[in-house]
Amino acid sequence: MGKGSGFGKTILFGEHFVVHGVPGIASAVDSAADSVVKKTANGIKVTDERTGAKGYADKKKLQQLESIERMLKAMNLDPKTVGMDIWLGGNLPGFSGLGASAASSVAIARAIAEEFELTFSDEQINDIAYEAEKAYAGNPSGIDNTAATFGGLIWFEKNLTGGENKIEQLSIREPVEIIIGNTGIVANTKAMVEGVGERKKQNPEKYGAIFKQAEQLAYDGKKALEEFDLRKVGALMNENHRLLQEIEVSCNELDILVDLARKQGAFGAKMTGGGGGGCMLALTPGKMLQEKVASAIENAGFEVLRTKIGIQKQ
Ligand code: PMV
Repeated sequence: MGKGSGFGKTILFGEHFVVHGVPGIASAVDSAADSVVKKTANGIKVTDERTGAKGYADKKKLQQLESIERMLKAMNLDPKTVGMDIWLGGNLPGFSGLGASAASSVAIARAIAEEFELTFSDEQINDIAYEAEKAYAGNPSGIDNTAATFGGLIWFEKNLTGGENKIEQLSIREPVEIIIGNTGIVANTKAMVEGVGERKKQNPEKYGAIFKQAEQLAYDGKKALEEFDLRKVGALMNENHRLLQEIEVSCNELDILVDLARKQGAFGAKMTGGGGGGCMLALTPGKMLQEKVASAIENAGFEVLRTKIGIQKQ
């Protein structure tokens, strides 16, 4: 029997802007997908017992099988001849925008490696998970599988000319409590990304100015995180949300969650990920503040994940 885990992630700064080469910052969260793999005579059977959004696992079933085939090929195993039972679980819910697919790919790859006595470095596991991610996301940036594999805080800059992306681990003094509020709306990230691209083309001056501010925000965010100035991090997150509203990727439900979190004392709050639904991220250092903001959001009828950013692999 082989076992493995992969972290979920949240984007702290720069979603959408990263697609156009502006730096962004993502963090692994203290919630992970776990996998157990057992060799069998033949066939691949997946039992998906992950918690969270109803129907998430069913909707992704076909993509999941394709991703496992891609993964096996990347590990030099033949999907037609190997047999295994794959179990998936863990405390990472299937909310839109938490990197659940990448986390599960990393977990499964590690569990297969252990069961089949194959030795892979973390870098190799990351490459294998990137191959698997293509089944879910077509041409993914790679930030999700990197956070899922290594954990921690990640500075990410997409190389727009097809070369290597810049990926750098940032250090943070200690993990910090956050909450993720789920609008319950399953968002279409691809459509949101395309919409930004269109509007950027139509309003180059307006968008150029906003993108410049987003770039500055990423650098200021990096500095504030490294200095552990959490008030500053929160203020910059608020500013990031305003920019995301300006490029029209937020929505009513996200704005409601953001306002609610700020009113309850969150240091900062913003949408996270593709927008148009999906999730809100609030910075809530300390268990007490985290609980206060989380229960207010639950009382308003939304699902919440209480977790932390800055979690490193043990
Ligand atoms: O919704 P998520 O967590 O997969 O994030 C999407 C982030 C975007 O910047 C909107 C797209 C991307 O590929 O970076």
